[in-house]
Amino acid sequence: MTRIVLLPGDGIGPEVTTQAHRILERAASLHGIPLDFEEGLIGGASIDAHGTPLTDAVVEQCRGAQAVLLGAVGGPRWDDLSVAIRPEKGLLRIRKELGLFANLRPASVFPALVAASSLRPEVVEGIDMLVVRELTGGLYFGEPRGIDRNGPERIGRNTMVYSDVEIERISRVAFEAAMRRRKQLCHMHKANVLDVSQLWVEVVEEVAKDFPEVTLDHQLIDSGAMLMVKDPRRFDVIVTTNMFGDIISDEAAMVTGSLGMLPSASLGAGGVGLYEPVHGSAPDIAGQDVANPLAAILSAAMLLEHSLDAAAAAASIRNAVSQVLEAGHRSADLILPGEDRAVTKCKAMGDLVLERLA
Ligand code: IPM
Ligand code: MG
Repeated sequence: MTRIVLLPGDGIGPEVTTQAHRILERAASLHGIPLDFEEGLIGGASIDAHGTPLTDAVVEQCRGAQAVLLGAVGGPRWDDLSVAIRPEKGLLRIRKELGLFANLRPASVFPALVAASSLRPEVVEGIDMLVVRELTGGLYFGEPRGIDRNGPERIGRNTMVYSDVEIERISRVAFEAAMRRRKQLCHMHKANVLDVSQLWVEVVEEVAKDFPEVTLDHQLIDSGAMLMVKDPRRFDVIVTTNMFGDIISDEAAMVTGSLGMLPSASLGAGGVGLYEPVHGSAPDIAGQDVANPLAAILSAAMLLEHSLDAAAAAASIRNAVSQVLEAGHRSADLILPGEDRAVTKCKAMGDLVLERLA
């Protein structure tokens, strides 16, 4: 049996993970892959139960699994805690502990949802990009960090630090992904200001020698962010740092119409992959059965593809989602202002996808 750990987390995490779990189980069994599920706590849920956003026991549980399917972490209840013990720390720790340095965030637009974007349809149609975000280094983890006193002053500090080894391995993931796609790679950086970005440019260029078929360009992150709303279709694969990738992947997601649709995969050198929707815990709508479970469901499809080598099962989930959207079903986040359409709730959306899987 292949072991999968579910970490539903906080806010809408549990409800979207429940739907993704049902669909993952069914799609896998239809393709002859028996899965064994275990559940663990992360984020605020773990703080409430154990006083820490991630216990060692859950880390070990994840290490022993083939893949982890995560919901979302965080919420106003835990906002007053210090950075060191906030729910988000649990997410950062599990990424680091499992060595998940490569975060793949595909952003493409479902034809049925072109109108949901705040950009004009002719700008949006056909968007199909993949943000490859470095996930275990850079500003998020660099030392020194913290808030110190210097006499009467307080000084806050984080450090953006990357070794050539870290840059090389994430670049390879990005070039390899580009080879499976349209063979275009855009490296986003800030080399006109940052030394660390200068090293990125150099190392990405070195790795490019191994991928002569891939067209590489380097784009400053600020103008890259601008181009992404101006002409998002120009992008195929984007590779960038942890911090820039955090920002640009939200932008990439939103130009496609809804953050509620975007899955992600976090992979490393080790065997375990972690899959999570790009959206957050949305505490304002938690527990009301109105969240959009499709990003979690599509994350389950990525899990099948990347961790279980089950591309056909993954495709069956994506097809089912497409069909549900084509049939006109929409969760609240996908309904345009003034549009007269019934809201499909979270569980009902799961039911619809499940029906179309068989
Ligand atoms: C993301 C999130 C996380 C991040 C937070 C919740 C720590 O924004 O996965 O993009 O910054 O990486
Ligand atoms: Mg983010």
